[in-house]
Amino acid sequence: MNPMRDRFTKDVDKSVEKYTSSISYDKRLYKQDIAGSIAHARMLAKQGIISEKDAERIVMALTSIRDEIEQGSFVFRDDLEDIHMNIEARLIEKIGDVGRKLHTARSRNDQVALDMRLFVKEAITQIIVDLKGLQSALLDVAEANRDEIMPGYTHLQRAQPVLFAHHLLAYFEMLQRDVERFRDSLKRTDVLPLGSGALAGVPYPVDRDFLARELGFSRISQNSMDAVSDRDFIIEFQATTSITMMHLSRLAEELVLWSSAEFGFIELDDAYTTGSSIMPQKKNPDVAELARGKTGRIYGNLMAMLTIMKALPLSYNRDMQEDKEGFFDTVDTILSTVEVFTGMVSTLTVKGEVTRRAADEGCILATDLADYLVGKGVPFREAHVIMGRLVHYAVEKGKTLRDLSLDEYKSSSHLFEEDVYNVTAETSIAARNVPGGTAPEQVAQQLTRARKIVQGGDG
Ligand code: ARG
Repeated sequence: MNPMRDRFTKDVDKSVEKYTSSISYDKRLYKQDIAGSIAHARMLAKQGIISEKDAERIVMALTSIRDEIEQGSFVFRDDLEDIHMNIEARLIEKIGDVGRKLHTARSRNDQVALDMRLFVKEAITQIIVDLKGLQSALLDVAEANRDEIMPGYTHLQRAQPVLFAHHLLAYFEMLQRDVERFRDSLKRTDVLPLGSGALAGVPYPVDRDFLARELGFSRISQNSMDAVSDRDFIIEFQATTSITMMHLSRLAEELVLWSSAEFGFIELDDAYTTGSSIMPQKKNPDVAELARGKTGRIYGNLMAMLTIMKALPLSYNRDMQEDKEGFFDTVDTILSTVEVFTGMVSTLTVKGEVTRRAADEGCILATDLADYLVGKGVPFREAHVIMGRLVHYAVEKGKTLRDLSLDEYKSSSHLFEEDVYNVTAETSIAARNVPGGTAPEQVAQQLTRARKIVQGGDG
């Protein structure tokens, strides 16, 4: 019979066992669970709650259980509900009654909170490293194409010319905020819950600061009831990941558009595109599309977690076991998405002649020509009206602003001179020489700053 069934007269129904079991997915917490148990056993001995000799045997057995799991010889049992029970049962199987002492001054409620916090901390640390890798890939492409010009868009309509590097650096900024958000959420995750017991604390002289040091936490929780029922750190992780995925879905969308025949701004490497089973000519940006799609699933995991926690009374409730599957899915998805994006971005080719042409077509310099008139003393609003009429005229004639004769210009304002033809995409870009603007000088400074950030300096 199950070790926790002593107050009952029979075993749980098979359907209940299956329904309540979490071992199929919480086995992923084995490393954290064993690390927590080792620290707990050492603390119990240090405080004289168990003997040093018993602690030694427990630690040795736990270490060998970890090896069994890693070598694949450990047998996970569904009837033992979760990873905590599975490891403890094996411990007792290995060293007998001594193993029964490990759970002194502990509950699965503070144990699972500990395991999840350790897991989230590791995940955040890895994600930050990987996000920096993606930032670095974006920077490489921006630097390699630092002179390329493209149309900047609003409403997905050509708006003003920009440097291609400036456009990519916008994604660098988004990812930098993500890195900062992950770092910030790490502070609130980095709190040791162990020692809270089931909910009220434990009636033993435990040393929680020792546990925190052993397990690498910088703080201990301050309220045992909160500690066993707080899942904010998982919600924050899911929210932060959702924002990152939202950013990646925007980049994905641009890569899908840019690699289309209609835009033709970039070419994705063969290794990062897929073919069609029916149309031999197709080269599909499936990676970008899937990232866009997976973003929906990640939002779903956040919503699920918020809903699981909604209106739960203090303290631990079994509902909280439902925190795990969506969480693991979110961790796996963000890590694989960032990894594949790093490869996709670093191998793409920018077609500078196409982006340059697109930045030169139509009436994209209308704002600059309005600014030209402002330079000759026309108030901006009036210049805007003049240019609006001129664009209307050009469109009616089936021309672009560039095609208009000086007489045509002059008929809308006598202030236009021959030098109106000196206004180009390059002068438009160079004129925007304000901090954060697209002028080459500004973008060069931003590239240097960004490089410093990914290299670890002030980032
Ligand atoms: N498997 C449980 C979870 O993930 C562990 C805690 C169980 N505690 C309890 N009192 N049943 O939340």
